[in-house]
Amino acid sequence: MNLSDNKATLSFSDGSPSVEMPVYSGSVGPDVIDIRKLYGQTGMFTYDPGFLSTAACQSTITYIDGDKGELLYRGYPIEQLATQCDYLDTCYLLLNGELPNVQQKKDFDHLVTSHTMVNDQMQYFLRGFRRDAHPMAVLTGLVGGMSAFYHDSTDITNPEHRHIAAIRLIAKMPTLVAMAYKYKIGQPYIYPKNSLSYAGNFLHMMFATPCEEYKVNPVLERALDRIFILHADHEQNASTSTVRLCGSSGTNPFAAIAAGVACLWGPAHGGANEACLNMLEDIQRMGGVAKVGEFMEQVKDKNSGVRLMGFGHRVYKNYDPRAKLMQETCKEVLQEMGLENDPLFKLAMALEKIALEDEYFVSRKLYPNVDFYSGIVQRAIGIPVNLFTGIFALARTSGWIAQLNEMIGDPEYKIGRPRQLFTGPVARNVKPANER
Ligand code: CMC
Repeated sequence: MNLSDNKATLSFSDGSPSVEMPVYSGSVGPDVIDIRKLYGQTGMFTYDPGFLSTAACQSTITYIDGDKGELLYRGYPIEQLATQCDYLDTCYLLLNGELPNVQQKKDFDHLVTSHTMVNDQMQYFLRGFRRDAHPMAVLTGLVGGMSAFYHDSTDITNPEHRHIAAIRLIAKMPTLVAMAYKYKIGQPYIYPKNSLSYAGNFLHMMFATPCEEYKVNPVLERALDRIFILHADHEQNASTSTVRLCGSSGTNPFAAIAAGVACLWGPAHGGANEACLNMLEDIQRMGGVAKVGEFMEQVKDKNSGVRLMGFGHRVYKNYDPRAKLMQETCKEVLQEMGLENDPLFKLAMALEKIALEDEYFVSRKLYPNVDFYSGIVQRAIGIPVNLFTGIFALARTSGWIAQLNEMIGDPEYKIGRPRQLFTGPVARNVKPANER
């Protein structure tokens, strides 16, 4: 970051001396005011719940221009990555800063592919869960549990350990997600097949059985790969910030990524794809497209507590570029599966049309986000609704690791420790129970 000629001056109405703070510029995007010395100089903290105006780190990985609806991984537009690269190119890019050349790609694919199996003991660990457990509960446990299986890659301060953990996590996440699914439906686990692509292998582990040959459908393989690319990173979102905060204590990478999985589960974040599909199914049950107007009235009524899931974003105040790409993929997959007249897709299009013209959404700059169409694609592929967020976690793992490793390598990194504005009771004495 570069020190700007500009400086910020904070003055106080009570006559306290004003404070000058440095301003830094990044390569693109808003400047930041460096408030690190503010407490030392004034005895005051800044107050910013939800980090609406706070940059918690400097990063070189992902850039979002929310007004333009632009998303860049290491400078490359998401549209180019989604159409010209595959997910493992994207992982390499996020981890190393550059796209791989032919030899680097071959080596990286081989490295990831040769780490796809998990320790056999993990299946017994998995068996401890109830079969009706939510897959995100199972995944949080399994990913955290990896730290109990791979002791030679748990030292976050050791670059070699971090590299091995990164490869293990990217390689084994699909195996764990597929194992969680097979366990839930009572089918035997399918071992990874190294001759397949990353996405093809995941489809194989999900849908093959030992009884018959499974052939990967290239349209679905490409669609899934695109889902992975689109979800790979999204700068300092809630789960990534969770991974950074968790990792800032020096904990092991598996524990930090498990924290990210747990955070992602929430319906305001990664859980939105599941919530969005459940919403579409509810409207469909209520009467489908004919009931869209009524549903929208509920969404606009603040007392109803109903939100249009898959709409709105903290950063995008324009169409989420991932939603556009996802809508394209949605059409391709539905056509491939002979589901062109899928009622949920029609319903989603109707909701989108109304929302994009409605004053409520227009004035608040609410547009479809990535989750609006991703659920329809995943459902058409055959992925059960409660596994959608697990697929998101699988894909986001590369971003989480890249961000975690960037933080550890940053000489300015410190344990994350936000402060507070205390509004509770001041010091008081405990009274005996009979006097309370
Ligand atoms: N439906 C109806 N109203 C909405 C919606 C929505 N989906 N999203 C925001 N609003 C309204 C909100 O009520 C508020 O109105 P007002 O200014 O009158 O109080 C205004 O828009 C601003 O919303 P906010 O909640 O203050 O904005 P935020 O930046 O805190 O929240 C969000 C962003 C994504 C949590 C929110 O838009 C939301 O809940 N969307 C639905 C869930 C969703 O699709 N999440 C996936 C996000 S993309 C994938 C990911 O990153 O995980």
